Amino acid sequence: MANMIVFGTQWGDEGKGKIVDILTEDADIIVRYQGGNNAGHTLVTEGKKFILHLIPSGILHSSKTCLIGNGVVLDPEVFCAEIDKLKDSGISISPERLAISKKTHIIMSYHKEIDQARETAKSGKDKIGTTGRGIGPCYEDKMARMGIRGGDLQDLDLVREKINKALVEKNVLLEKLYNQKPLDPENVFDRIRPFASRLVPFMTDVSRKIQEAGEKNQTVLFEGAQGVQLDIDHGTYPYVTSSNTVTGNASAGSGYYYNMKRVIGVVKAYTTRVGQGPFPTEQDNESGTHMQNMGAEFGSTTGRKRRCGWLDLAVLRESARLCGPTEIALTKLDVLSGLETIKVCTGYIYQERTVEYPPQEENAMAGVSPVYENFPGWSEDISGVKTWADLPENARRYVRLIEDYLKIKVSIISVGPDRDQTIRMG
Ligand code: GDP
Ligand code: IMO
Ligand code: MG
Repeated sequence: MANMIVFGTQWGDEGKGKIVDILTEDADIIVRYQGGNNAGHTLVTEGKKFILHLIPSGILHSSKTCLIGNGVVLDPEVFCAEIDKLKDSGISISPERLAISKKTHIIMSYHKEIDQARETAKSGKDKIGTTGRGIGPCYEDKMARMGIRGGDLQDLDLVREKINKALVEKNVLLEKLYNQKPLDPENVFDRIRPFASRLVPFMTDVSRKIQEAGEKNQTVLFEGAQGVQLDIDHGTYPYVTSSNTVTGNASAGSGYYYNMKRVIGVVKAYTTRVGQGPFPTEQDNESGTHMQNMGAEFGSTTGRKRRCGWLDLAVLRESARLCGPTEIALTKLDVLSGLETIKVCTGYIYQERTVEYPPQEENAMAGVSPVYENFPGWSEDISGVKTWADLPENARRYVRLIEDYLKIKVSIISVGPDRDQTIRMG
């Protein structure tokens, strides 16, 4: 059982979807273990683009099984829309190859309403810039022990009872705090009911499925969402998502002990961030515009423009400390082509001292000054390059610099969105 895990080392959108799609060839089962449809994972095969928000990126490979673990929060409407879209594209979907844990928490309409109302009520720096998908409020209910789980959908009386209880609290919030109309429990129930019958056949014991895969010596690939700097504990709190994005959560979020042979940290060759929060290497200038345009940096979930900046090794060092990558998949190297000088942040000045890791205090990242090393760029278009030897000398030096600083090997270099635009290192 040579299990693998793919995780984002930065603020998300590193290109995890593409890397998972490639590595799926070597796996039997692909599991999502945290986050929800705040994620947007893009896969491009032979020029055809798929954006998956909830269903694991392995789904395009017809012989593989995809599982949604208990650590995910699942919006039934989004799940059904996603499977319908995949079916329309000729991809076979059945409970044999796609299943959901009975312990997965369900995103209800009131979670979305509260997420959006809360963001609207905030102003200026208080806004988090969430995706508005109800992710935070659903995780809140999980922790408050008042959530509705996948397995509950088999018992509609229980669902109705839980909605009634939840709305006692939610309506106070909506009415008194956010000046919204209270929600009618029967309307909320009517909205979820048709999806319940569609979801029930997909419900399973994900933990057991992974155990069985191990017994058959199969390989499980764990697909992370978001990135380490968005982790609820270790990210740039409070500008984070509401789940643990570090690799250790693959265990709790899927119901299987942590057992990975390969830990693949996905590193974008520069940095992007969507939503609010500190971003020390952000470039609100020509270089940032180059990355934005060349990298088509628009959010795959909300369509928002992604903020862009230089690669930040302090962030990557922290990701390595937290997640233990055995290798790096470096993506979007092609986007840096054409920049005369490329900068890399090697650490920060914080409170008049040089530091190599992000400081721990809340919002301290807003007060650091990056220390940069300048690096000569390359002018060639590398999006058609297939081998390490064919990369321009300066592009190879850039890759080696990352390896040297982090003491981790780069095993995959991605030079374009398509499956084929990939260099595998020997
Ligand atoms: P994820 O959330 O980590 O899966 O990443 P997203 O899919 O949200 O964003 C990555 C974007 O970059 C997508 O549009 C991908 O198609 C695209 N992409 C992935 N790898 C490369 C690459 O090497 N070069 C370029 N130019 N685009 C890439
Ligand atoms: P993938 O998996 C980038 C960000 C949002 C916001 C913050 C909180 O595609 O890398 P939330 O809706 O989760 O409560 O929003 O987290 N965010 C992401 N940014 N990629 C993602 O996922 C993200 N998922 C959430 O923009 O700043
Ligand atoms: Mg994304």
